[in-house]
Amino acid sequence: MHCAKPDKRSMSEEGGEIKIMKGSSTKSKLKGLTGIADISSKDLREILSLTKDLKENPLKRSSAIQNQSVALIFAKPSLRTRISFEVGIRQLGGHPITIKMDEINVGIRENVEDIGSVLSKYVSSIVIRTFEQKQVEDLQKYSSVPVINGLSDEEHPCQVISDIFTISEIFKPCDGLKIAYVGDGNNVAQSLLLACALSNINISISSPKNHQIQKKYTDLAKRMNPEINIELNEDPKISVKNADVLYTDVWTSMGQEKEANKRRKIFMPYQINDELLSHGKKNAVVLHCLPAHKGEEISHNVFDRFSEVIYTQAENRLHAQKAILLKLMGIN
Ligand code: CP
Ligand code: NVA
Repeated sequence: MHCAKPDKRSMSEEGGEIKIMKGSSTKSKLKGLTGIADISSKDLREILSLTKDLKENPLKRSSAIQNQSVALIFAKPSLRTRISFEVGIRQLGGHPITIKMDEINVGIRENVEDIGSVLSKYVSSIVIRTFEQKQVEDLQKYSSVPVINGLSDEEHPCQVISDIFTISEIFKPCDGLKIAYVGDGNNVAQSLLLACALSNINISISSPKNHQIQKKYTDLAKRMNPEINIELNEDPKISVKNADVLYTDVWTSMGQEKEANKRRKIFMPYQINDELLSHGKKNAVVLHCLPAHKGEEISHNVFDRFSEVIYTQAENRLHAQKAILLKLMGIN
């Protein structure tokens, strides 16, 4: 794996402003994965290498977390994240416990401090999919076990770690590649940008005005890796030029359903289709984190042509999820 550059830093967010935490890159045991900034390039490299090993030897660590339980809290729907974590935890010998958010109602039925403190007495790690990024970070603050962000409104770190693995399977090495992300500047886009910074991958993000990624993420990515090219524009044709990988995600994320009709109109010029592909490299690969709304962010044609790699991308969530868990739990 040649996908993560040598690293000097890892990051954390405090009060909306993301700050660099000095000297934390050498620690072997990470606190959690609330966002990509929690890990260093070295951590990412180790996770990618473990992912490769787990994919090649799926049964090798079948008792790695024997007799340990992992809580999975979901405030939003999920196919890939939930099932790949549940299956992965079982394959490692552990017990997944999935809880729907309305059963525990973080912050309503009980405060996050009590939930984190109590869950930490029962389980070895907590995965949470929720709305507010702050809730993920607060849960980590009050938990003595690793908290893993299974998607928030701001980040989707498990997805993009797996995506960097998929890219590394296709392009060896992937240093210096260019990714074009076309569409909504959402959670996936923000995490992807940071993962590109950790992996020495150049990225061009094309989104409509008022739907671009938050400035704090571009600032952070630049601080993480001043050497990569980060381009933000409103013209997808510019982004896809010379890109090795084209990436898209839904125009309406979970929680934004009321805006779906409005968004369809705004985002139509950002569809990845044959016409847009004609402006890029002939051998460019198209990725999609799924679920896909074919005919919206990606045309049926393009999806069908790249479905094999997109389904492999989804498969890799399983292997990467296991590697993330082992890394966070300090097991190699
Ligand atoms: N890509 C992804 O996270 O899929 P789910 O929402 O189905 O988990
Ligand atoms: N941006 C999408 C990602 C789904 C995996 C959402 O948040 O709904």
